[in-house]
Amino acid sequence: MSLSLPLTDISPLQFAVTQNPSPKSDAERAEILANPGFGLHFTDHMAQIHWSERGGWHRATIEPYAKISLDPAAAVLHYGQEIFEGLKAYRHADGSIWTFRPDQNGLRLQRSARRLALPELPLPVFLDSLKNLVRADAAWVPEGGETSLYLRPFMFAAEAFLGVRAARKVYYFVIASPAGAYFTGGVQPVSIWLSTDYARAGHGGTGAAKTGGNYAASLLPQQEAYAQGCDQVLFLQDGNLEELGGMNLVLVKKDGTLVTPASDSILEGITRDSLLQLAEERGHAVERRAVSIEEWREGAASGEIVEAFACGTAAVVNPIARLKAKDFTIELPVLPEDKSVAMSLRKELTDIQYGRIEDTHGWLYRLDAGSDDESSAK
Ligand code: PLP
Ligand code: COI
Repeated sequence: MSLSLPLTDISPLQFAVTQNPSPKSDAERAEILANPGFGLHFTDHMAQIHWSERGGWHRATIEPYAKISLDPAAAVLHYGQEIFEGLKAYRHADGSIWTFRPDQNGLRLQRSARRLALPELPLPVFLDSLKNLVRADAAWVPEGGETSLYLRPFMFAAEAFLGVRAARKVYYFVIASPAGAYFTGGVQPVSIWLSTDYARAGHGGTGAAKTGGNYAASLLPQQEAYAQGCDQVLFLQDGNLEELGGMNLVLVKKDGTLVTPASDSILEGITRDSLLQLAEERGHAVERRAVSIEEWREGAASGEIVEAFACGTAAVVNPIARLKAKDFTIELPVLPEDKSVAMSLRKELTDIQYGRIEDTHGWLYRLDAGSDDESSAK
């Protein structure tokens, strides 16, 4: 079963495709794909669509990857009116290329747009932008291991105007970057720094939107995390757990219950939602509620909380081995893979994404030229 969309899923925009006249050579591309890292290399093409208050969405193109020319007064450079998404294209063993729950990314992009007073991109156009780009750059989707092509849709205020109001001219792009593991050490337990001096978001703010400002706010505390020898930073709000700089957080209790923060100021992660759904189907209880840092501290000390993990598209699932704060440290035992709920859920999720087991949820969506019928099961 794969993702099926309503019959109204017909994109009103046609993408005009201009092939890159000087793409990377096969040898250059092979060298990059052999060791892609994360976010370092970009494919030969990009998707672009313009929006104006008068003309709506127009001028949809797939064109050679190139620098963007912007007026220095473009509002995004001054007021940060910007949103983005992140999802991956996976190559299956038969060579076909699929992505995972892209409808959820498209809907989240619309929610982010509403919060940032940007125009909403219709879901069919969002999906078409991914398909058209991946078809132009299909050779860039790596094979094997846990590699993928990371897709980065983004939208920003392009109007040259210094008054503070929503821009009337907006650009949407999708770029793509071959990806290996997000953390340089690959899948291994990570350590987290608890930021108590800084917040990334607040009630009524933009925390639930995927907008650059949230990440800008996380950079200084992230530097603090590195200085403390940690990989990522964890934010609190009113003493409750929120999320990491670029990932959601889940705790696992001794009885198998999964507990994850519910908050109006965190990003509703699609990876987390999928993992929790898989866990519920296995019979785990799942609690989405406020979780205080004290609860984690006490639970770790009493043995009630046995695992914690970070999850997101880029990093997938990484067990947390240590939470370091100014005045305390929580150490979590590193469980062998067959005893770790985090690693077992990680395996099931990636097996679905890479087509190694059946997609019984209709989460996969075909991107490559092999078929225009996304609902055709493999
Ligand atoms: N939280 C933040 C701040 C993120 O940047 C991400 C990554 O996209 C996530 C959570 C996880 O979201 P998803 O699983 O949809 O990638
Ligand atoms: C993602 O996981 O897609 C993210 O956006 C996290 C980070 C790379 C910003």
